[in-house]
Amino acid sequence: MTKVYAVRVHQLGGPEQLRYEQVEVGEPGRGEASVRHTAIGLNFTDIHFRTGRYPLPSLPHVIGMEAAGVIEAIGDGVTAFRPGDRVAYAAATPGAYAQAAVMPASRLIKLPDFIDDEAAAATLLKGLTAQYLIRGAYTIKQGETILVQAAAGGVGLIICQWARHLGTRVVGTVSTPEKAALAKANGCSDPIIYTREDVVARVRELSGGAGLPVVYDGVGGSTYETSLQCLKRRGLAVFYGSAGGIIPPFDLWRLNRMGSLYVTYAGLADYLHDHVEMDERAAELFAMMRNGVVKVPIHKRYRLADASQAHADLEGRRTSGASLLIP
Ligand SMILES: NC(=O)c1ccc[n+]([C@@H]2O[C@H](COP(=O)([O-])OP(=O)(O)OC[C@H]3O[C@@H](n4cnc5c(N)ncnc54)[C@H](OP(=O)(O)O)[C@@H]3O)[C@@H](O)[C@H]2O)c1
Repeated sequence: MTKVYAVRVHQLGGPEQLRYEQVEVGEPGRGEASVRHTAIGLNFTDIHFRTGRYPLPSLPHVIGMEAAGVIEAIGDGVTAFRPGDRVAYAAATPGAYAQAAVMPASRLIKLPDFIDDEAAAATLLKGLTAQYLIRGAYTIKQGETILVQAAAGGVGLIICQWARHLGTRVVGTVSTPEKAALAKANGCSDPIIYTREDVVARVRELSGGAGLPVVYDGVGGSTYETSLQCLKRRGLAVFYGSAGGIIPPFDLWRLNRMGSLYVTYAGLADYLHDHVEMDERAAELFAMMRNGVVKVPIHKRYRLADASQAHADLEGRRTSGASLLIP
């Protein structure tokens, strides 16, 4: 057992519920490895675990889904990794907000030399999400126009960069002119400031009245209706998050009336269902990082001890791109 500092939730609630304190980390068991973290990714998903929207396995519990670092020790049966290997992970269960953690080796991804630890922690979870959204849930094509809600957000910016590279035009929603400029610089040719403009009207205008083949929506409750209205006949709404609240129960018959629409609510775990699939998707992401297509701007680095402030900023829409917690 080793003692490390970590951020735990004792009681579900606001950012003030995050407690920076010492916890014990055990030795890695069979199929596990212990990882000393050097950079931890901040994700909106962490907020959902803190508030209880996503269930924590127990309380108190360390939260956090993503980190990069170095393997310190491996358990029996681990052959793919050795102590000293640089790795990152987008975990299946929370536990990354800590100086070190024991992880199933099957969730670890070896980092190539051209990706430093901060870039890995800023990019892996959001980048794998962007990858499966545009190359799995729906395969975007050259010459198509797509809509991305929260285009200046963590996942949103990566979709913009990757889509531009594929020759896909991106229309994206953002709350402020600053976020519009950032989205534009990252490949969103038509940012719509939804606090000032009518999103559906602008999308109809940009698509010659027809609507778009696909919408990516990680905001949910406050945007799903707009997302559906921006689709063309037989278009697909890919929902994947709820930064703006939960989508209420929905009458499926409406999909018929709106043009025989398709809807999915996608989750990363189902697109990384085994190590082979995870490695394939990661290899595609790393290739896009190597050729400079995916380059995640680090909005801010917070000390791990300041995780509450990081949550308040992310929830308060004061962030763009990715932020890190440094242990
Ligand atoms: N299913 C999956 O596989 C998967 C994977 C990763 C993330 N997610 C989910 O995707 C969502 C986005 O994650 P992210 O880390 O990329 O976050 P993010 O986009 O960096 O942050 C959320 C953004 O949503 C917008 N927003 C709209 N209404 C909001 C509200 N009421 N409160 C806060 N933000 C609001 C804000 O952008 P504007 O200021 O421009 O409105 C904000 O910056 C989260 O729900 C996350 O859990 C799902």
